[in-house]
Amino acid sequence: MNGPIELTATGIELRRGRRTILDGVDVAVPAGRIAALTGPSGSGKTSLLTVLAALQAPDRGEVRYDGQAVTPRTRDPWSGRVQIAHQSFGLLSLLTAAENVELAAQGLPTARRLERRPLRAAARDALERVGLAARADHLVDDLSGGEQQRIALARAMSTAPALLLADEPTAQLDAENRERVTDLLLDLARRGATVVVATHDQELTGRCDLVLTLRDGVLA
Ligand SMILES: Nc1ncnc2c1ncn2[C@@H]1O[C@H](COP(=O)(O)OP(=O)(O)O)[C@@H](O)[C@H]1O
Ligand SMILES: [Mg+2]
Repeated sequence: MNGPIELTATGIELRRGRRTILDGVDVAVPAGRIAALTGPSGSGKTSLLTVLAALQAPDRGEVRYDGQAVTPRTRDPWSGRVQIAHQSFGLLSLLTAAENVELAAQGLPTARRLERRPLRAAARDALERVGLAARADHLVDDLSGGEQQRIALARAMSTAPALLLADEPTAQLDAENRERVTDLLLDLARRGATVVVATHDQELTGRCDLVLTLRDGVLA
């Protein structure tokens, strides 16, 4: 139960008020592949990622991990194995970078929570991989947007997820860090994770195994 997760979603509809945000979206990402999710802003990428992460229930349709239906109510056993790096980072500004990364383990079922020391080591390791080892003890508030973006990714990676959903993870990065994060995401997929990355970054898209394009809530 430690390999990459096969992700499927069928007939996803999401409505908010009178608006239909996602309209009959089908997604199939084979285990261990990396998929780019592209489309203009407002097309529904972030909404779809949160549905695929089972953080938000669709009005219709189903998300499955390895063939098992999953909803926000039944996602608990998957937490830790399924992680999302949010577009808006979702960091706590008065904690340090390392403390924010350590928060990833809070969602894990008690039995799988790491002891304090390995937890700290996993956080440092994840920060190192995004090139932020030297910032581990800085308050998030004192870091740049690009640094915060990489902390959010480090947090999502720190539990060695089998499915990683990343929302525009290179949007605020300079060329060097874009390449670093792109390599990291591809490496995660190679080493046994399924990855879905919402992005406008054409270089990243070009290196993905498959490309899904959303327009007005419909997958092209
Ligand atoms: N909770 C919500 N309530 C109402 N409208 C929403 C909500 N979340 C997203 N939307 C709308 O859904 C559309 C898709 O948004 P989003 O998923 O953020 O797209 P993208 O990530 O591609 O920019 C946008 O028009 C946005 O305004
Ligand atoms: Mg978005």
